[in-house]
Amino acid sequence: MKLFLDTAEIDEIRTVARWGVLDGVTTNPTLFSKIKGKTYDEVLQEICTITSGPVSAEVVADELDGMLREGRHFAKLADNIVVKVPMSETGLEAISRFRAEGIKTNCTLIFTANQGLLAAKAGASLLSPFVGRLDDINEEGMTVIRELVEIVTIHDIETEVLTASVRHPRHVTEAALAGSHVATLPFKVFQQMVRHPLTDKGIVQFKKDWEAARAAMAANAKG
Ligand code: E4P
Repeated sequence: MKLFLDTAEIDEIRTVARWGVLDGVTTNPTLFSKIKGKTYDEVLQEICTITSGPVSAEVVADELDGMLREGRHFAKLADNIVVKVPMSETGLEAISRFRAEGIKTNCTLIFTANQGLLAAKAGASLLSPFVGRLDDINEEGMTVIRELVEIVTIHDIETEVLTASVRHPRHVTEAALAGSHVATLPFKVFQQMVRHPLTDKGIVQFKKDWEAARAAMAANAKG
């Protein structure tokens, strides 16, 4: 399963890229609103210099011409830009038009397998069901991932399921087990995945034992 970083923060992207585990980046208007002093275009172009993986840039227009204008503009910023389009009747039309133009799309704000099926048929290369937001309203977000992965597999549809709105490391494990092709994670979840208290404890203990062994060897050498 590919791992994307769900952020517009350049430092976070550089950090995960250095770990060697970054496959791409997703942004959205909320994530961009946290960045000060840069335009969305500048942020996207900088991200595309850090990763050659897909970088999702979200349109905000709600009519077709606006979506097409914004998406075409983003697609010119770098070769690895994927245009993020919200699920709606107009969104499907935009996805279908982008596909005809060779522009890759990520259909966002998917909450049911049927929405995902429609987005896939319209030509979205990535389908983004939001698991965390479904869990928030007492639904089982992972069910949509399982159903959509199965539908895409049974019918051999050329698209990828991207688990979005990830809230904790367990979501990542469950998405991987469900066969999700991609998961996009906040930086904090990447950090949580690295850490385990027994790992931390083990590192401290190994260092302590190593230093004790060295001290004993030095004492023996002195005779
Ligand atoms: C990513 O593509 C989505 O926009 C993001 O995962 C949404 O996450 P949230 O539900 O935590 O805002």
